[in-house]
Amino acid sequence: MNLLDQFLWVIFPYMCIVVFVVGHIFRYRNDQFNWTAKSSEFIEKKRLKLGSLMFHLGILPVIGGHIAGLGIPKSWMDAIGINDHMYHIGAVYIGSLFGFLTLGGMLLLTARRLTIKNVRKLSSASDIIVNLLLLFIVVMGMYSTVVTNVVEPGYDYRSSISIWFRNLFILRPDAGLMTDVPLSFKIHILSGFSIFALWPFTRLVHVWSVPLNYIGRSYILYRKNRKHGL
Ligand code: HEM
Repeated sequence: MNLLDQFLWVIFPYMCIVVFVVGHIFRYRNDQFNWTAKSSEFIEKKRLKLGSLMFHLGILPVIGGHIAGLGIPKSWMDAIGINDHMYHIGAVYIGSLFGFLTLGGMLLLTARRLTIKNVRKLSSASDIIVNLLLLFIVVMGMYSTVVTNVVEPGYDYRSSISIWFRNLFILRPDAGLMTDVPLSFKIHILSGFSIFALWPFTRLVHVWSVPLNYIGRSYILYRKNRKHGL
């Protein structure tokens, strides 16, 4: 293990996490007026609707898969009866299904942003970087799940990547766990972390403003105003 490994698998992830937290606090305190998804719906609706729906329907289960695969130790899964074979089937087949949905959505959204003149004109450099970086992360994630899993069938990232990932959060980083990980996973993870460092300075902040209170709030009643004929 050399200095570069220490940088990539210890310093860089912590830098991204710190920038993510401090950046959000800074943005929230200084730039609330621009805290928005910056929708371009009024320029083009049809492709946005389909691309955005596919991306969001795909990414939510993919996030769930990441939480399960990276956050839950293999021994806990075994204890509740999910053996390696069952986990593998779920991760590869269900993971790929939602991964393809996410990828399809990202491809549509990226093509829309780059090919529709007015959408492209309205996009800032940060919008385009976020778009392309997300697409790259998803492509590398899919490549790791579909191709690397076929080329190296015995490889189980729960014995390396997942332990490394959890150790970061209990402040016991161990770069050694990442040195023998296949390259595609390494690229996926480094680009995955970099999006967290960019997050607070981009339109991605809209994720924290999802109006969850809509689900439980009381209905708004609209009544006819007969007196004024409305
Ligand atoms: C930041 C740290 C991240 C780590 C450690 C990580 C790790 C992984 C691993 C280990 C896999 C392989 C799963 C399997 O084969 O079962 C994977 C797949 C994938 N990742 Fe990530 N990832 C990260 C961030 C992200 C981000 C930010 C995105 C989306 C923007 C993403 C999207 C995907 C997709 C689409 C797949 C393929 C489908 C799937 O298996 O769910 N990942 N990732």
